[in-house]
Amino acid sequence: MDFKQIISHCKEYGFIFQSSEIYDGLSAVYDYGPNGVELKNNIKSFWWKSMVQMHQNIVGLDTAIFMHPKTWKASGHVDAFNDPLIDNKDSKKRYRADVLVEDYIAKVEGKLNKEIKKAQKRFGDDFDEAQYRATNSRVVGYQEKMDTIAERLGTAMTDGNLEDIKALIEELEIACPVSGSKNWTDVRQFNLMFNTQLGNIAGEEGKLYLRPETAQGIFVNFLNVQKSTRQKIPFGIAQIGKAFRNEIVARQFIFRMREFEQMEMQFFVRPGEEMKYYEYWKETRMKWHHSIGTPAEKLRFHDHDNLAHYANAAVDIQFDFPFGFKELEGIHSRTDFDLSQHQELSGRKLQYFDPELNENYVPYVVETSIGCDRMFLAALSNALQEETVPDAKGNESTRTVLKLHPAIAPVKCAVLPLLKNKEELTKAATDVYDQLKPHFLTQYDDKDAIGRRYRRQDAIGTPYCVTVDFDTLEDNTVTIRYRDSLKQERIRIEDLKATIAGKLI
Ligand code: GAP
Repeated sequence: MDFKQIISHCKEYGFIFQSSEIYDGLSAVYDYGPNGVELKNNIKSFWWKSMVQMHQNIVGLDTAIFMHPKTWKASGHVDAFNDPLIDNKDSKKRYRADVLVEDYIAKVEGKLNKEIKKAQKRFGDDFDEAQYRATNSRVVGYQEKMDTIAERLGTAMTDGNLEDIKALIEELEIACPVSGSKNWTDVRQFNLMFNTQLGNIAGEEGKLYLRPETAQGIFVNFLNVQKSTRQKIPFGIAQIGKAFRNEIVARQFIFRMREFEQMEMQFFVRPGEEMKYYEYWKETRMKWHHSIGTPAEKLRFHDHDNLAHYANAAVDIQFDFPFGFKELEGIHSRTDFDLSQHQELSGRKLQYFDPELNENYVPYVVETSIGCDRMFLAALSNALQEETVPDAKGNESTRTVLKLHPAIAPVKCAVLPLLKNKEELTKAATDVYDQLKPHFLTQYDDKDAIGRRYRRQDAIGTPYCVTVDFDTLEDNTVTIRYRDSLKQERIRIEDLKATIAGKLI
């Protein structure tokens, strides 16, 4: 499905609404509807279970959004959490200068992929993609062009060389997507943190920031958590919570928002052992994505071209969104940067006594950080499909189906009496519904013909539909219909709960 269809499906079926829509909306801010909040909560709980519950050496935390302003000085966000900004003088539109260049690279990549697809068609089963990439002059040319631009952009970003980013935009003849003009301002730095004022203190003293990442709440609590839980290094602290960034380019729906949610885990390790755990978490997090139902071919690692101010290694897990491969999760080796900085600015020791080494040190940190909203978009865009299936009379019909992993599907089961106006059926169906509802989110639906009810459930991703019919009244069995295979099975009511619950893990 294309991106527009995904966005309209989200609205039509109560997954996502534009914030303050009746006032024409607020750019890059979204609300989650009744099905959206279930899907989002399920993603969060899937993450929490696999990170906290399944790891004896990872514990949870929930810290405040507001933190002492010195936190953000220490973390480097006041001085270095900037994006390079550029304005087009004709359209008056504002862009992230690096994104303009990245979009240009993506266009070249699109051309390269087109060449590969054409060759695949031409050579059929004999096609050797690796060889073609290495030898076809046009493909090699595209690849070299992409690499050269990415490297130059990476260096300019790392060095904060704004002049060179502008030069790159001019050399590549990048035009404003709105006006088509190449009449650009200089590139300037723009700090992404939102700020507000503490009630009783005026001026700079009372300036508060809305946290741009949840990680700092973990760092400043490192010793509180370690001491109260008696964890030994290596151990992790996990947190899910809101973060805020005044993004310059806020587009692509919930991919880049100004208010969003992160699921982060900081893993504290001995200095010198960080690369071992960096590799461990790269692999573990990729497996998590597979386990939530994301196909391997839609995921890839992408090493950072330019490292953030705190990292000595960093990789993204990218997902093939409807607008191309983009960052879904980051895995960063953050060294001892954050803890050392907080130690210095607060004057408090943030060290760990390692009983095996018999020494104190500031631990190193490997972080995994995934946007909950991006994971939502990845899961939904991967799952939403249009299919041709046989209808009740055996004719071909089209259905829109959301093939989400059952563990994250908003509604797990729908109970449907075959007919609405037969009291004995609705009563039996209500009894089944009452039995299931304490265990997982179940819906009761008796409106419209059964086929239409199935379609409604398909569209929101309900993996199991249970139909109560006249045989139910005789033998206490119901029909369970599987969303993906459309297979239908007769099953005893007393086995329903265990059957469905067993498939939700
Ligand atoms: N603590 C590290 C950190 O915040 P990041 O790469 O800036 O690293 C981590 O962000 C993740 O948060 C990203 O991979 C992305 O999934 C999500 N994220 C970042 N900015 C976002 C935004 N404006 N809207 C939605 N998700 C965002």
